Amino acid sequence: MCGIIGYVGKNKALPIVLNGLKFLEYRGYDSAGIAYVNDKNIKIVKEVGRISSLESIVDKNEDTNVCIGHTRWATHGIPSTINSHPHKVGKFTVVHNGIIENYLSLKEKLKKENIKFKSETDTEVIPALLDYYYKQEKDILKAIKIVKEKLEGSYALGIICEDDLEHIYAIRCGSPLIIAKSKDGNFIASDVPAILEYTNKYLLLEEGQIAVLSKNNVIIYDNNLQETKLKELTFKGNKDSAMLNGYKHYMLKEIHEEDQVFLDTYNYYVKNNKFLNTMPDFKKYQNIHIVACGSAYYVGLIGKYLIEEYADIPVKVELASEYRYAKDFADKNTLVIFISQSGETADTLAALKKVNSEGIDTLAIVNVYGSSIAREAKYNLYVKAGVEIAVATTKAFLAQTTLIALLAIKLGNKIELLKEFNNLDKYIKELLNKDYKKYAKKLFHHNEAFFIGRQVDYALCLEGSLKLKETSYINSVAFAAGELKHGSISLINNGTPVIGIATKEEIINKTISNIKETKARNAYVLYITSRDIKDNFYDDKIVLPKVHDIVMPILTVIPLQIIAYEVANLRKCDIDKPRNLAKSVTVE
Ligand code: AGP
Ligand code: GLU
Repeated sequence: MCGIIGYVGKNKALPIVLNGLKFLEYRGYDSAGIAYVNDKNIKIVKEVGRISSLESIVDKNEDTNVCIGHTRWATHGIPSTINSHPHKVGKFTVVHNGIIENYLSLKEKLKKENIKFKSETDTEVIPALLDYYYKQEKDILKAIKIVKEKLEGSYALGIICEDDLEHIYAIRCGSPLIIAKSKDGNFIASDVPAILEYTNKYLLLEEGQIAVLSKNNVIIYDNNLQETKLKELTFKGNKDSAMLNGYKHYMLKEIHEEDQVFLDTYNYYVKNNKFLNTMPDFKKYQNIHIVACGSAYYVGLIGKYLIEEYADIPVKVELASEYRYAKDFADKNTLVIFISQSGETADTLAALKKVNSEGIDTLAIVNVYGSSIAREAKYNLYVKAGVEIAVATTKAFLAQTTLIALLAIKLGNKIELLKEFNNLDKYIKELLNKDYKKYAKKLFHHNEAFFIGRQVDYALCLEGSLKLKETSYINSVAFAAGELKHGSISLINNGTPVIGIATKEEIINKTISNIKETKARNAYVLYITSRDIKDNFYDDKIVLPKVHDIVMPILTVIPLQIIAYEVANLRKCDIDKPRNLAKSVTVE
């Protein structure tokens, strides 16, 4: 959600910033803009739509060594040129990721001081406040410190001041921002892929710190404006991880990395008998809550079924956006698990902060190293999915599912089940190489689809349905198979697509009965199963390898992901950047 990149250095800044913005496109945006220093002035160019539109109105060869760029995902005010970032008031120009929750009251106060606003955004109060306090303090750092204290909400900011055209200032609270140093200049960025072409070394700016970047230097100040140091981190993946490498879309590329991602995650925790000591000792917990959003929430549901079955511990799974406002039943015997690919999802982070403040143990299952959720939680388990660019998560889902299955084993002390993971990478590969286009061809011209399944298969139905919905815009819904007849079966008609998932041996027959109920109403049925049955209740069938229930979800999700991809491809959708969506939802 929104991308920030800033560069100050020896080289021409415009090509660097425009290129960096392209690497942040995956985060989702609706407009873009840049501000740069040219001839002792700050020039601003902004445009609605894609970076390419912005690029077409910028002269990349303009002489500038200082530039900040932004992709906006509108929260306050429509996507328009005026509302796009950067915003300039007085001497200050700002790019912002996040939401200023108290912007209305701030704006009212500033209006009384005769300050004029041009946009509808919450962001514009930030340069206005900076300018206001700078006039009083005559010191940029002091002005930034005062403004930080006035802002409520979440933000990552890149700031340029007209009185100091050789520096970029940056702060963050709740929204991600990294600082990177290279021999030819220094960067701020929302995420590592934007700077990988220049360096793989970066710093994670802490909340409350102010970074000041010049051509040759980066200085970090703490909350009291004292200089402080940050540990330099190294991005472990290679530059190619953020490239398409010959694939048509990132989503497809990432799906095809799943056998490796599975191995990386599994090996990290299990190889060399590390399993027991790489996971915290969970014996004391009598209850587990799992909190997450979107697909990560569905991993949580899979976790519920696996943990309850193999560890016999009751698990409650809740959407982070609900959990944080719900009545609190967690106590000292509860472990609250937060699952997030990005580690920056605002709802999940807010719920985590709430639970932490109550002194209850928290565990984060996160993909992005050093992300806010990873840093905030008491315990951390990283999945090893690598950089995920496509908005629709695939390989991270598979890695999280792998880890939650391992967690169920650990919680239940069922070490003997680890052998069920052997050879799974071969099965994954086998599934990745099957042809799913033939099913996609039967689905893509429909405007609706139903996914039905029971228990863990229901969780996978929810994921399959979300994947289809977000990439292809087909109105698809998932039902617990037994629930369909309580109302929604009225929607099944001639040819309505029904994807029936049945992998859990003890209840396959029950699910089949529900699938038959839809076939009796002339649905088109795609049956996805681990039990190959010859019958006439389906039109097409995908038979999954027969593996143990503890690892079954890791396989089941693969055809669902590829079908969603193939359908979206046939519908010519913008697969990696679906409309209205953002990769990392850093606003509530
Ligand atoms: C998945 O395809 C979605 N794009 C979305 O539901 C996502 O899983 C959700 O926003 C949570 O993100 P996170 O894992 O980064 O917290
Ligand atoms: N809230 C700001 C706006 O609507 C910033 C949104 C973003 O993070 O892109 O302009």
